[in-house]
Amino acid sequence: MSTAISPTAYNYKVVRQFAIMTVVWGILGMGMGVFIASQLVWPELNFGLPWTSFGRLRPLHTNLVIFAFGGCALFATSYYVVQRTCQTRLISDSMAAFHFWGWQAVIIGAGITLPLGYTTSKEYAELEWPLAILLAVVWVTYAAVFFGTIIKRKSKHIYVGNWFYGAFILVTAMLHIVNHMSLPVSLFKSYSLYSGATDAMIQWWYGHNAVGFFLTTGFLGMMYYFVPKQAERPIYSYRLSIVHFWALITLYIWAGPHHLHYTALPDWAQSLGMAMSIILLAPSWGGMINGMMTLSGAWHKLRTDPILRFLVVSLAFYGMSTFEGPMMAIKTVNSLSHYTDWTIGHVHAGALGWVAMISIGALYHMIPKLWGRPQMHSVGLINAHFWLATIGTVLYIASMWVNGITQGLMWRAINEDGTLTYSFVEALQASHPGYIVRALGGAFFASGMLLMAYNTFRTVRASQPAEAEAAAQIAVVGAH
Ligand code: HEM
Ligand code: HEM
Repeated sequence: MSTAISPTAYNYKVVRQFAIMTVVWGILGMGMGVFIASQLVWPELNFGLPWTSFGRLRPLHTNLVIFAFGGCALFATSYYVVQRTCQTRLISDSMAAFHFWGWQAVIIGAGITLPLGYTTSKEYAELEWPLAILLAVVWVTYAAVFFGTIIKRKSKHIYVGNWFYGAFILVTAMLHIVNHMSLPVSLFKSYSLYSGATDAMIQWWYGHNAVGFFLTTGFLGMMYYFVPKQAERPIYSYRLSIVHFWALITLYIWAGPHHLHYTALPDWAQSLGMAMSIILLAPSWGGMINGMMTLSGAWHKLRTDPILRFLVVSLAFYGMSTFEGPMMAIKTVNSLSHYTDWTIGHVHAGALGWVAMISIGALYHMIPKLWGRPQMHSVGLINAHFWLATIGTVLYIASMWVNGITQGLMWRAINEDGTLTYSFVEALQASHPGYIVRALGGAFFASGMLLMAYNTFRTVRASQPAEAEAAAQIAVVGAH
């Protein structure tokens, strides 16, 4: 088998770049998460400065973890998967390079503007219009590279993972452009074109589908490739994956109003959002079961393979958060959970347990292959990372459940004469132990990422340039 560099080799350069930046942004974003979690324990850490205050650093955390860490993980894996399953190189190296550098520029822009207080004030869509436009241009380039590569594919079939990645790319473009429609009044200030309840509806149509398509559909694309690969088993049911795909994308788009229960949004829209969210349990669990059952006959591998453990535990957390979500969408449950730490616990069950864990598993699978190494430098370190991540996630979500339900019950408790039983400060004091446990859980999770960085560094350092190029070359010849 030839190992010479050839134009028919895959473009692994951009995949490697995004893979490295996933680890870097993961450390910074989760480090920021630990810092803001600590601010809620020790308010002195706000340092009395606007730039370091919780209010400004919180959106920096969400942008770093969702768009920088999650985004880079999705780009690295989608470029890897699309090339290998289509048996062809990316359609354009220069456009892929623009995608990489443009995306890093957007994130650095976020890192500067958010602490300075420039924000649209729309959650997960905070970036002001110049950065939002740059982001749109970079995204369209990504779409062109991804779909262009699918068009020039050598294989007849479009593998189901690409369907999920494709839906994530198209819907994210639509959401970003519609929600960001605004009137700039200066270089760093714009006003939304929508107003009042319409603005809220569009923002949460965006916000919920950012969860549905960015934090879910894209990562399901990852699941459909990396779980069968790591388990060395075909996907449990191809038919189920098709039903899963169409049901998921059809239902998700309607569920946004569950973020606006008991608001000025028309009541019928709230009820519709609630009903659609409950039905969403079915495709979510269909997908989870399809991933889990792929391990039929391979369960024993969990004993020795920590990468597979990351992937399977991520599916367990996915199943858990997509059971919890529909429950929280029920109006009566939401009247207890909304505004409390229960929502924060739910978010991180999805974000740490599902999004981060599946990304970490996929990266550990991919990194040795990208650099032409037989495996990661240390399997023991992957195992240690697995336990730090799992224990960290459990500490985070369990403490937030306790806090959330405590807060909800204390806020609504009333005395016989109709006055409130507890003041807000009393509920805050009751939450303090939970905040300590959450910060500890976050520190566990983030230190696992440091192990990953070291393990990656050693794996990359051991690779020879020729080995790395050969890896891209051989993959074309070998099966995907
Ligand atoms: C070390 C890990 C992490 C820690 C310690 C952490 C901590 C935090 C804290 C303290 C908040 C603010 C909560 C509040 O306002 O009361 C927050 C919000 C948030 N974090 Fe994290 N986080 C971590 C990882 C992640 C990851 C990996 C993601 C996504 C992939 C993520 C997504 C979010 C989101 C979406 C919110 C906003 C939630 C909402 O508004 O309801 N976090 N995080
Ligand atoms: C069937 C699936 C799901 C449903 C029906 C669902 C439902 C919900 C509900 C009802 C809320 C609370 C809204 C509120 O009271 O303000 C919520 C919040 C949230 N969920 Fe989910 N969820 C699902 C899955 C997920 C997954 C898998 C993730 C992460 C990967 C996730 C991330 C979030 C985030 C980030 C928020 C906080 C939004 C905010 O207020 O800033 N959800 N979800």
